Amino acid sequence: MVSMFNVPSTIIVGGGVSSEAGAQSKKMNAKKVLLVTDSFMVSSGLAGKIADAIKKGNIEVTVFDGVNPDPTDKNVLEGLDVFRKNGCDVIVGLGGGSPMDCAKVISIMTANNEPISQYAGLHKVPNKGAPVIVIPTTAGTGAEATKVAVIGDTERNVKMMMLDVNMLADCALVDYELTMSCPPSLTANVGVDTLVHAVEGYVSVKANSMTDPIALSAIKLVSDNLLTAFNEPGDAKAREGMMLASLQAGIAFANSSVCLVHGMSRPIGALYHVPHGLSNAVLFPAVTEFSISGAPERYATIARTMGYVTDKDSDDAACKALVAGLKKLNVDLQIPRLGDVTKVDLATFDEKVEKMANDGIASGSPGNNPVVPTAEEIVELYHRAW
Ligand SMILES: NC(=O)c1ccc[n+]([C@@H]2O[C@H](COP(=O)([O-])OP(=O)(O)OC[C@H]3O[C@@H](n4cnc5c(N)ncnc54)[C@H](O)[C@@H]3O)[C@@H](O)[C@H]2O)c1
Ligand SMILES: [Fe+2]
Repeated sequence: MVSMFNVPSTIIVGGGVSSEAGAQSKKMNAKKVLLVTDSFMVSSGLAGKIADAIKKGNIEVTVFDGVNPDPTDKNVLEGLDVFRKNGCDVIVGLGGGSPMDCAKVISIMTANNEPISQYAGLHKVPNKGAPVIVIPTTAGTGAEATKVAVIGDTERNVKMMMLDVNMLADCALVDYELTMSCPPSLTANVGVDTLVHAVEGYVSVKANSMTDPIALSAIKLVSDNLLTAFNEPGDAKAREGMMLASLQAGIAFANSSVCLVHGMSRPIGALYHVPHGLSNAVLFPAVTEFSISGAPERYATIARTMGYVTDKDSDDAACKALVAGLKKLNVDLQIPRLGDVTKVDLATFDEKVEKMANDGIASGSPGNNPVVPTAEEIVELYHRAW
């Protein structure tokens, strides 16, 4: 099978490496950096610290902190305007997936025409834009390493998935110390997002020999570290493990693909404004159960990697243990049910569920699933997760 593998040309991993932001900006000949972030990063003081690190190299910094969680096309255009009005030349994205995605899309919009919606889908971005450095603060989306961004289309009320090599950051500074402040609920949501990236990257019909070992490594790291990071937020070793898992899971899924969980999750995010990791988490056990028959050996390998069974157990026993294990993981991480996170009753949900199923299929992700579902089966899966 032929496959393509893209990652940022520079990835620096380790405690404290976010202080490299200045040196890396200088390497890019930056004169004025646009620091793309959100209001929490400013109020917590982290944005100021990173700005100071950049200024040390005699580089000016303009802060754009107008990124909302699950950013929209409006956030991108606002940031682009600040970039142009201030004569910036390099972009630094600081935060969770939302500021990083926003930074990546502001960058491509410096060199491509509006509207943004024409770049939704696969390989549709003609030109590379201004250089980008990304600094993740959650573990996480893996967006620091992916050629993917997810941006809300405010006109059509859908989340657009864009994948193109021109979307890759030039440099990722992966510093687990920045995640130490994540509260348990955020740690749980983004940690399950990491696990879903690794699992979907491994079971996808586009999985390949470059992504398989990286996906399995990420699965093992999540299995070893997520519950500790959730229960003991100050455990640096667990935070470091989750940060590495997030990076590896991002590399894996962006070079194979995500599948049905993400396909069904984006419409929940678009309609009910549920955080991305949480909308994945509520769907994960039911979608896994549905998908196993398409790739039983692969799901069994995941169960063994997570320590739910040993090599002596059959694939069938391993797959059953995996579904039970994922259900228990949700309980241990205090993940609620789909009905709780949408905050509407089932009758109201059902008024929109067919559109959600069709939007999910249109995104293309369900087509990569080991079992490709019909719209009716997707509706049924939403109900199973309710
Ligand atoms: N590009 C990709 O490859 C990719 C992959 C998965 C998800 N995504 C996208 O990423 C977005 C979600 O990103 P996310 O889950 O990282 O959350 P986020 O960036 O939306 O942040 C969520 C909240 O957590 C806060 N936060 C971030 N870091 C913190 C820290 N260290 N301590 C305390 N609070 C902190 C933020 O200020 C914000 O209020 C979604 O839009 C999703 O679609 C992108
Ligand atoms: Fe995700």
